Amino acid sequence: MGSVSETVCVTGASGFIGSWLVMRLLERGYMVRATVRDPTNDKKVRHLTELPGAKTHLTLWKADLADEGSFDEAITGCTGVFHVATPMDFESQDPENEVIKPTINGLLSIMKACLKANVRRLVFTSSAGTVNVAAERKPVYDESCWSDTEFCRTAKMTGWMYFVSKTLAEQEAWKFAKENNMDFITIIPVLVVGPFLGSSMPPSLITALSPLTGNEAHYSIIKQVQFVHLDDLCDAHVFLYEHPAAEGRYVCSSHDATIHDVAKLLREKYPEYNIPTKFNNIPDQLDIVSFSSKKLTDMGFQYKHSFEDMFTGAVDTCRERGLLPKPVDNGNTQK
Ligand SMILES: NC(=O)c1ccc[n+]([C@@H]2O[C@H](COP(=O)([O-])OP(=O)(O)OC[C@H]3O[C@@H](n4cnc5c(N)ncnc54)[C@H](OP(=O)(O)O)[C@@H]3O)[C@@H](O)[C@H]2O)c1
Repeated sequence: MGSVSETVCVTGASGFIGSWLVMRLLERGYMVRATVRDPTNDKKVRHLTELPGAKTHLTLWKADLADEGSFDEAITGCTGVFHVATPMDFESQDPENEVIKPTINGLLSIMKACLKANVRRLVFTSSAGTVNVAAERKPVYDESCWSDTEFCRTAKMTGWMYFVSKTLAEQEAWKFAKENNMDFITIIPVLVVGPFLGSSMPPSLITALSPLTGNEAHYSIIKQVQFVHLDDLCDAHVFLYEHPAAEGRYVCSSHDATIHDVAKLLREKYPEYNIPTKFNNIPDQLDIVSFSSKKLTDMGFQYKHSFEDMFTGAVDTCRERGLLPKPVDNGNTQK
């Protein structure tokens, strides 16, 4: 257990990223206020309350992005806030009200609460979806790039409402932060993969493991994609929160790949699954599209995990939780 004696709030604490971040903060000695929508839902909070240090250093707070002022109580008394929560319902029938509005208004409401509570720094978990979703593809993306929300609304690709929600929320937040002279930092994770604490399938693994599960709607998202290990991403959150000179946006990405690289790795590691070698409407040869993490690594941050670590960690945890389909008997089953 570390020795940092600060109180910080983590929103979306029961989720894939939120719960791992809570674990890392507890290990460093932080007092953590974890917000969840339903603290009485044992299935969603048990992996938090069972963490080492939770009995003395963790408290659960009820808060919802759709309710103005909902986070005020949890944030009052904190020196730092990690805003990780986001609605991520790609199948929403009312994306404007269920995804876009709560993401923007929820972030602004949290910023107002931070101002009132004199929070030292607010760290917002943004998304690669705020950076590279546009009609024209670039070979390399960095913190200066922004997605085109009008293009998202017209093209209506899988997850379009999520890309719009995160882009507009981050843009509104930058305006608010500048007007109010707030210490605000955003982290831009690419697709996050790795072992996890919760009991349900994390949204990003539905996408990352789609070649193994055969979920074709997600193939286009990982056609030319970038990855970061969950543990590296959470370390980057803590690193940037604690670094006195941190400012602005930070891309967090350690590996660029194509769907063929993902499929090859999964085929080699898990031959018992029938993982395709060809994907409908996706060419066999694809260029790499890169996200530059130079700003983060120039500050001294180091990634610890390999591409293989991410996928073996993710698949092993999914298997332990019974979240993957049974392998087919293709003669390659490992005994
Ligand atoms: N995973 C990735 O690959 C990836 C990549 C880029 C960016 N991100 C960003 O990382 C953050 C966390 O994502 P994740 O992968 O950890 O997803 P996740 O497992 O779905 O976690 C998101 C959390 O948000 C909470 N939430 C949803 N709607 C809410 C609402 N209306 N009010 C309050 N809380 C709400 C949920 O909490 P409850 O349990 O309380 O319902 C859930 O635990 C998001 O901001 C996402 O944009 C993720």
